[in-house]
Amino acid sequence: MKALILAGGSGTRLYPVTMAVNKHFLPIYNKPMIYYSLSLVFLAKIREIIIVVNPEDEKNFKQLLGCGEELGVNIEYKVQYEPKGLADGVKLCEDLIKEQPILMVLGDNVLFGHGLTELLTETKREIEKEGGSFIFGYYVKDPSRFGIIEFDKNGRVLSVEEKPNNPKSHYAAIGVYFFDEKVVDFAKKIRPSNRGEYEITSVLEEYLRIGKLRAKVLGRGFAWFDAGTHDSFLEAGEFVATIEKKTGLMIGCIEEIAYRNGWIDKKQLLKMAERFEKTEYGKYLFRIAEEG
Ligand code: DAU
Repeated sequence: MKALILAGGSGTRLYPVTMAVNKHFLPIYNKPMIYYSLSLVFLAKIREIIIVVNPEDEKNFKQLLGCGEELGVNIEYKVQYEPKGLADGVKLCEDLIKEQPILMVLGDNVLFGHGLTELLTETKREIEKEGGSFIFGYYVKDPSRFGIIEFDKNGRVLSVEEKPNNPKSHYAAIGVYFFDEKVVDFAKKIRPSNRGEYEITSVLEEYLRIGKLRAKVLGRGFAWFDAGTHDSFLEAGEFVATIEKKTGLMIGCIEEIAYRNGWIDKKQLLKMAERFEKTEYGKYLFRIAEEG
């Protein structure tokens, strides 16, 4: 399975902050926003990664993450010239996805919770075995801001609607999606929505139509943030800071996960730690390397 991270878009909801800087480089406490979505991919044990980027940001992404070699992964970039929607991002990557199932993660999502690694690896196995798609529902107070999942009383998905005026439930589809190889064909088939975007919810509707859309609900033990607005951006940063200070363990530390996954060795981790040695981030990497 490959992973697709969507890190293009215009970031207008964070203006004026994102007039000159792409939001995925902004710090959620002590690391760039993109680290958090990348860490989900790492936790799912996926090493083949495609990142969709805006033309003006490709250079900066490469400066930050390179081709992934130092982290023991392979990162390819795909330029999206216009932010035409999440499904457009999928369509663009047809040549790189190469008829494989994918884990798609939105570059502005932060997810934390007990059992997350098992949840991701198990769902990956289910998709590889049975095909279809999986999304994750999270109870929110303000459902009109998100893609909303309606369930029947047996937990089956009845509908998915993008930012509905009259939401049928409080369960938002978070920005983590597992799809089988049919995803590109569905993304190519759909029409733009009223707001002119190729919506991922339209792709989900195609899976629903063939009876292959399933959803897992994330309970209260999970924290999820879509850090694309001023308030949620701040809340995500405060959350990460609180947990990290309390436990002494980092959230979204990609170097640590690569090391614990056995993708890089102690020497390689120490090399990266040296680069950041003046910061708490670097000191943390030294500690992880020493603890083994
Ligand atoms: O965060 C969860 C929500 O994300 C879902 O509930 C919605 O169903 C889904 O459509 C999406 O809604 P948003 O309005 O939050 O999407 P946004 O435009 O913020 O884009 C999400 C990420 O995808 C962001 O990191 C930028 C990137 N992106 C966006 C667009 C429109 C692209 O890479 N290309 C694009 O064309």
